[in-house]
Amino acid sequence: MAAHRIVFANEKGGSGKSTSAVHTAVALAARGARVATLDLDTRQRTLGRYLDNRAVLMKRDGLDLPMPIYATFDPAKDNDIRAQLDALAADADMLIVDTPGRDDDYVRAAISTADTLVTPINDSFVDLDLIGQVDSDSYKVKRPSFYAELVWDARKARAKTDGGTVDWVVLRNRLQHLEARNMKRVALALAELSKRVGFRVIPGLSERVIYRELFPKGLTLLDLAAIGQDAGLAHVAARGELRELIAGLQLPEATPARQPEAA
Ligand SMILES: Nc1ncnc2c1ncn2[C@@H]1O[C@H](COP(=O)(O)OP(=O)(O)OP(=O)(O)O)[C@@H](O)[C@H]1O
Ligand SMILES: [Mg+2]
Repeated sequence: MAAHRIVFANEKGGSGKSTSAVHTAVALAARGARVATLDLDTRQRTLGRYLDNRAVLMKRDGLDLPMPIYATFDPAKDNDIRAQLDALAADADMLIVDTPGRDDDYVRAAISTADTLVTPINDSFVDLDLIGQVDSDSYKVKRPSFYAELVWDARKARAKTDGGTVDWVVLRNRLQHLEARNMKRVALALAELSKRVGFRVIPGLSERVIYRELFPKGLTLLDLAAIGQDAGLAHVAARGELRELIAGLQLPEATPARQPEAA
């Protein structure tokens, strides 16, 4: 069976696509799934570089960490995005695609092949505005925005090609629990918008400095215990969030867990 395809996309830059994508990829690999990834961000290549760093660390320190197969899309060499996605999907259980913070034809093509489309947003009305305009007092939806229309078109394209559906999940990234009032307001607005536009909302990762520190070594939160750097309770809570995120994606059980994830 071909891989389940998870595409991380939001044309707003810096919303947490690459961070969520790499954590999802490693978490699924840690559960024993065969994970392949494609980085469509040819210029920044955050996901690709993250996994380069991981490969270097694994080799240098002789570590056996869960490692996805990874490739970078480069239209200057080969612009057949669908063929590349199909090739990667053929030998994987899960295919994870990271996209750049902009709109282009390749991103649209990737979205229209997604089984699960994940749009991370930072928890603010500024980010929400990209999906739809919501009255900040009454939370009434004024109208969906261009991004919701783009996803709508991609969903139509998917239905036409193979009759499949795209499960659109909006992930609330960088949640700051100190900002309880703002979180609640955004939640209410998102709830209204989700009914109109057709997406699900799931909680993502909290705002934590650790996410910015892990990149140079290519590590995720799940690896810290394995390298003897577990920092206790804060990481336990963070790993709990990651587990919730993966559960929220409601992915098909491609492979049974090879090993229980550390708490
Ligand atoms: N939960 C978090 N807590 C703290 N920092 C975070 C969190 N999520 C992401 N960041 C940081 O925010 C920045 C942007 O995140 P990331 O690169 O994942 O976003 P992106 O959507 O992929 O950006 P781009 O559109 O440029 O590709 C990075 O410096 C990252 O380390
Ligand atoms: Mg990115």
